[in-house]
Amino acid sequence: MKNKLTIAVDGFSSCGKSTFAKKIAAQMGYVFIDTGAMYRAVTLYAIDNGIIADGILDQQQLIERLDDIEISFRYNKHRGAADIYVNGDLAEGRIRTIEVSNYVSEVSSIGEVRRKLVAMQQQMGRDGGVVLDGRDIGTVVFPNAEIKIFMTADPMVRAQRRYKELQAKGDNATLEEVYQNVVARDEADQSRAISPLRKADDAIVLDNSYMTVEEQMEFFLKLYQQQCE
Ligand code: DC
Repeated sequence: MKNKLTIAVDGFSSCGKSTFAKKIAAQMGYVFIDTGAMYRAVTLYAIDNGIIADGILDQQQLIERLDDIEISFRYNKHRGAADIYVNGDLAEGRIRTIEVSNYVSEVSSIGEVRRKLVAMQQQMGRDGGVVLDGRDIGTVVFPNAEIKIFMTADPMVRAQRRYKELQAKGDNATLEEVYQNVVARDEADQSRAISPLRKADDAIVLDNSYMTVEEQMEFFLKLYQQQCE
């Protein structure tokens, strides 16, 4: 086996993919790439620049402006992960609001947006030693990843987790709103025409509805050991 692996963590929204992927990266000494943050960053740009206005996304305008959107990551040692920047402005906090969540599925269904971000992800991960979390990592971005995990959890458990996170940040979305957003995104992610969310044939399923992060890490380490045998 190569010594610097590519690890793909795909699955439904609010499953704790980022927390899990970040922990794996720390354990392995790898770089963690949150690909959902990149789709959120494009969505935030669209909101900030009037490309989403009165609840409507102007897809054509977004496609025309794609070359103006420069996304970058800078390591934040306090968080132990990279913060995302859009055209040089820190966007980490603002990409996780319910407003961005409500439009991100539509933005991520646009082929031109996916092409731009997938190319960036492939470039960032080209030397291995990376853990990427997303929806299409094991199927499209890195179909040859050595380890592929597909995460799922009960939708209400996921809504409660995301609701707590939002509350901690002072966002006053209700649990019902968050639940509806989780269910709507599951549906949109699985039914979009381009790169829909689906388990790669060789991915291992992890249902973490009732698992602690420590139990998930035990699961990963077993999987890793099996791959090394
Ligand atoms: O992981 P997340 O919830 O932050 O992702 C936000 C949205 O971005 C999600 O609704 C689907 C989309 N996404 C995608 O289409 N492909 C990816 N690789 C990652 C995210």
